[in-house]
Amino acid sequence: MCGIVGMVGHSPVAPLIVDALKRLEYRGYDSAGLATIEAGQLVRRRAEGKLINLEKRLREEPLGGTIGIGHTRWATHGVPNETNAHPHFSKDVAIVHNGIIENFAELREELTREGYEFASQTDTEVVAHLISRELARGAEPQHAAFNALKRLKGAFALAIMFRGDEDLIVGARNGPPLAVGHGEGEMYVGSDAIALAPFTDSITYLEDGDWVVVRRSGMQIYDMNGAPVDRKRQQSVGISFLVDKGNHRHFMEKEIHEQPEVISHTLAHYLDFTEGRTKSFDMPFDFGRIERLAISACGTAYLAGLIGKYWFERYARLPVDIDIASEFRYREMPLPKNSAALFVSQSGETADTLASLRYCRTEGVPIGAIVNVRESTIARESDGVFPTLAGPEIGVASTKAFTCQLSVLASLCLRAASERGHISREEEKRLVHELSEAPRFATQALKLGDQIEKVARELSQVHDVLYLGRDTSYPLAMEGALKLKEISYIHAEGYAAGELKHGPIALIDESMPVIVIAPHDRIFEKTVSNMQEVAARGGKIILITDEQGAARSMIKTLETIVMPEVPEFIAPIVYALPVQMLAYYTATIMGTDVDQPRNLAKSVTVE
Ligand code: G6P
Repeated sequence: MCGIVGMVGHSPVAPLIVDALKRLEYRGYDSAGLATIEAGQLVRRRAEGKLINLEKRLREEPLGGTIGIGHTRWATHGVPNETNAHPHFSKDVAIVHNGIIENFAELREELTREGYEFASQTDTEVVAHLISRELARGAEPQHAAFNALKRLKGAFALAIMFRGDEDLIVGARNGPPLAVGHGEGEMYVGSDAIALAPFTDSITYLEDGDWVVVRRSGMQIYDMNGAPVDRKRQQSVGISFLVDKGNHRHFMEKEIHEQPEVISHTLAHYLDFTEGRTKSFDMPFDFGRIERLAISACGTAYLAGLIGKYWFERYARLPVDIDIASEFRYREMPLPKNSAALFVSQSGETADTLASLRYCRTEGVPIGAIVNVRESTIARESDGVFPTLAGPEIGVASTKAFTCQLSVLASLCLRAASERGHISREEEKRLVHELSEAPRFATQALKLGDQIEKVARELSQVHDVLYLGRDTSYPLAMEGALKLKEISYIHAEGYAAGELKHGPIALIDESMPVIVIAPHDRIFEKTVSNMQEVAARGGKIILITDEQGAARSMIKTLETIVMPEVPEFIAPIVYALPVQMLAYYTATIMGTDVDQPRNLAKSVTVE
């Protein structure tokens, strides 16, 4: 993943680069670093761990210079220490990199044979040495960079700076995003527009295979053959302020609490509550004509897609194939002509999701994308974009983006159901009305904080937790387990309740908490049977249900969290909240870094 930034400016750039890196920390926080040219020399400061450590280093030893590049790292090759932190140097070259150089081992061997010495274990350092070698062979800086780029296989966004030229940054993109920002006699490069937002909202995105020569006076983009190309300059809608936590302890807590509002905004974008139908928005495909829909995504977005599958199949009778994107991209799935593809991604940059999208492009099917970042690569490469109006999500563990993705999927499902003639006008009105109530129920769910915190105290004492659910509560069980392990580091698994007896039941003893997500719906009794199986083996049941469910389950639980009675259709949106809160409180009790859990990153631009 990693975030990169570069600036050719007028004033000292180090503080500005740090400011930009703060907006990129969601991409990784294993180490951070920046380099400038001071008194004609390449100089750098780097620090292991979060940006705050780099800031401390810079306070002790400030850096001058009006040109610079910076980096925040999510480690792929080499442990996250200072030596492996970017920028990497090779003689007169400084470089920052996001991505993976797949042929780095052979390049490293080749360069080592020629006497180049490697200071780090990173794949990135080979690029610095390759450029250095080109310079030594007499190439001008920009040509040296271009020649080196031609040798690289893999995924990269790069920013390169050269000793001896204080008016030049070369950027390149193959996979991970790179944006060029246009300022007043200053120019910038960055992993996204949000990083550059305090400096400019005038942005040009590089396309794959592009590289760019950036100087104070402007920039020129070239394609992979070295021919100049024009790329559109656009007004970014990036946010110029750093989003703050308000009165909340963590961004995650704030984002959980924002859900009633952002779900409401998102639904209002797609639904006409007065008429009780979906609004007319542009569609990349015709729900009335397609016979299959392929959904693909990663992580929490994948689980949103899985709930979407249940909805599309039940209400719109539209068969859905759903895959984890890292599998889909290599699975060579045949896509029938009359099918369409839908991708779900908060960031719109996830490498595997993007690769799956490109696979569908080669298969020639129309492509839609549900994304939160509207200027992202996935959004730009889709035939139609369905935005989630969640606003910036900073907490690495996704919360409000998830419920907004569900809100979009539910709205699309209604549109599909009506266009495919599978729901009557009355039913459509009823379902739109039910969705309109989701924000109100979400507000009620937020009031269960004290009780959920009590359960979290129990969870904070254990090593393993099982989540069970049926139907749309099954993906939610997996989401609950994912949330818990992401931020509290407690091992957790989500299972289809009916699958319990095929394996996981062997794990159950008196020390195993089993969280059962079971709104009182048409299959509630089936889930109760599975709870009986747990109870019979001494498992500690934590039941999340509604009043009717609580009254009818008749099983001794450790705790029963009683949710408002919600219509079956919207249950996964509303039940997502206690599931998120449970993970959040457990992690805060355990004292982990909730917003930036270890080893994770928010935007995963590598495979
Ligand atoms: C990372 C994040 C998850 C997210 C997943 C997919 O793993 O930590 O919260 O669900 O990537 O990201 P996307 O941006 O494609 O939704």
